[in-house]
Amino acid sequence: MHYGARNILVVRVDATFGDGWFYEGAGIYRHVWLTKTDTLHLARWESYVRPSIKGNAAILGLGTTVQNQGTHVEQCRVRWQIMDAAGKVVGSGNSADQLIPPDRSTTFTGNANLANPALWAIESPNLYTAIAIVESGGKTRDAERITFGVRDIKWDPDKGFFLNGKSVKIKGTCNHQDHAGVGAALPDRLQSYRLAVLKDMGGNGVRTSHNMPTPEWVEACDRMGVMMMCETRLMSSNPEGMAQLETMIKRYRNSPSIILWSMGNEEWTMMPQPQGVRVIDEMIARSHELDPTRMCSCAVNAAFETHFPEQLDVMGFNYNLKEHDPWHKAHPNKPSVGSETASTVSTRGIYITDKQRNWVSAYDLNHTSWSQLAEEWWRFYAAREWLSGGFAWTGFDYRGEPTPYGWPSINSQFGIVDMCGFPKDNFYYYKAWWGSEPVLHLFPHWNWEQRDGEPISVWVHSNLDSVELFLNGKSLGSQKVQPLTHLEWKVKYEPGVLEARGTKDGKIVLTEKRETTGEPVSIRLTPDRKEINADGEDVSVLTVEVLDKEGRAVPTADVLLHFKVTGEGKLIGVGNGDPNCQESDKEPKRSLFNGLAQLIVQSTKTPGTITVEAVTGEFPPPQLPVTRVTINTKKIELRPAVL
Ligand code: GAL
Repeated sequence: MHYGARNILVVRVDATFGDGWFYEGAGIYRHVWLTKTDTLHLARWESYVRPSIKGNAAILGLGTTVQNQGTHVEQCRVRWQIMDAAGKVVGSGNSADQLIPPDRSTTFTGNANLANPALWAIESPNLYTAIAIVESGGKTRDAERITFGVRDIKWDPDKGFFLNGKSVKIKGTCNHQDHAGVGAALPDRLQSYRLAVLKDMGGNGVRTSHNMPTPEWVEACDRMGVMMMCETRLMSSNPEGMAQLETMIKRYRNSPSIILWSMGNEEWTMMPQPQGVRVIDEMIARSHELDPTRMCSCAVNAAFETHFPEQLDVMGFNYNLKEHDPWHKAHPNKPSVGSETASTVSTRGIYITDKQRNWVSAYDLNHTSWSQLAEEWWRFYAAREWLSGGFAWTGFDYRGEPTPYGWPSINSQFGIVDMCGFPKDNFYYYKAWWGSEPVLHLFPHWNWEQRDGEPISVWVHSNLDSVELFLNGKSLGSQKVQPLTHLEWKVKYEPGVLEARGTKDGKIVLTEKRETTGEPVSIRLTPDRKEINADGEDVSVLTVEVLDKEGRAVPTADVLLHFKVTGEGKLIGVGNGDPNCQESDKEPKRSLFNGLAQLIVQSTKTPGTITVEAVTGEFPPPQLPVTRVTINTKKIELRPAVL
């Protein structure tokens, strides 16, 4: 078994013709029949499809490279078949016939027309596929499947970014590939899980910082309609740096989600030097050769006054809000984006900063010396049409770079969501001003034992017209929502029910309550999906909470729970989003952190059920009854890689 040309996995290498699978992304393979031990084949990652929209049609510029590793000259041509999402053939293209001498490669090009293409857009990420087929003497000698989308992008120096002719502000986050319980070893399903969390917040973009992303992340963006600033690891024009850049561009240039290439991040020492200009020029020139359809940027955090940023097609600002306006004024013909912003810090569920415990309050009040609050950077960007939007550092918390505190913190606290993807309160600031749904989010929790009579800061993130706050049925006043800001009350604590009522056009449209809960008496396990694929890869992500006798989740609970997974699945990781937690990510137990923990359960290849049980140990109390949930695993065709 070996991998053939891009996207094809071949399982019978001994035959002239063999069984193979086209990899369609998201774990989906399609069975095909193709030649394999052949010496005439498509070169790796050389195929491209470049759509350009002309009226009601798209013209597809097609190209690839064929290698002849045999001992005699081959005459061949490449044929392209274009298919829509349903697999219907909707276009075709042909190259001219060419002779390829032994041990040589030749490029083949062609064109295809696509009438009335369904455009790739954020709300409707339509995808097409092209199959590039190498033919010689009437026989198919190799083939590969290329996923692409038809869309038009434009970066305007005054008006920002446009997708398919519509102005779109980029509402993005930077992310490392790192998740609770599994680290960087993410099952494919977790890529879309994480992207769904960011989309739920109203996010429409991600920056792959600071490295070429994994294919499953790019494919998830293609499928889910999320725009990507795709970044190479090294800003360097040495052979290693250029090889990395070329691999990234060739590998991903057909992905419609990618709207911008990034040549690197914060190369402090290089940027102000004359070499910096030469390096970036070389990188950009090569990027344009490989992909004439996209612009290039770089994440710049210094040397604003030098020639370095002038080389970029799109200026990328990291932080430094003071530099934006003067730079734009001095370079009125350059489009701009916030390649990195925010670096706001907060601990989920914590409302009092406690330096002894490495906790930083989740009100939007804390950032590093070089960065801004959520509300600060977004108000700045929203007010400037010429800024195409930006990428907040970061969507998810990640291991390493523990900020604002060092050991025993083991992860950063920059995330808008924690390591598990549980939202911190800033999530709702973004959701209110990035998303399209009505939002009313009230915090903190209302379990402040022994703080009777003390003033508690109560905040609301909402995009409604006004919000009225009540404590135990008594109004504490109504406030009008000012766009892009939050609301705040000081409330003397008394246990009971804190309630916010949000009004739009004179009607109450949303209410939210925070109630003083009792002690935990039961455990709740909630799988994100109750049926997954029995393919040995798919996962269900379970949220763990404890409830009081009235069935309310206890937001401050930190009880240690033990888990047992039986049947056709196994536990592959646990987490709780606590940046200071030293518990194992792999053992079947975890403390809740401010009321929440997460379990990740993976199927076997045998269809059946997975049972997940949660129990409390004898010590420390409370002892709660065992809770069980079952997850079904359904039969699917296995992809050959995991047979
Ligand atoms: C930036 C850097 C990121 C991260 C961030 C933390 O300057 O590009 O990688 O370190 O700071 O705020």
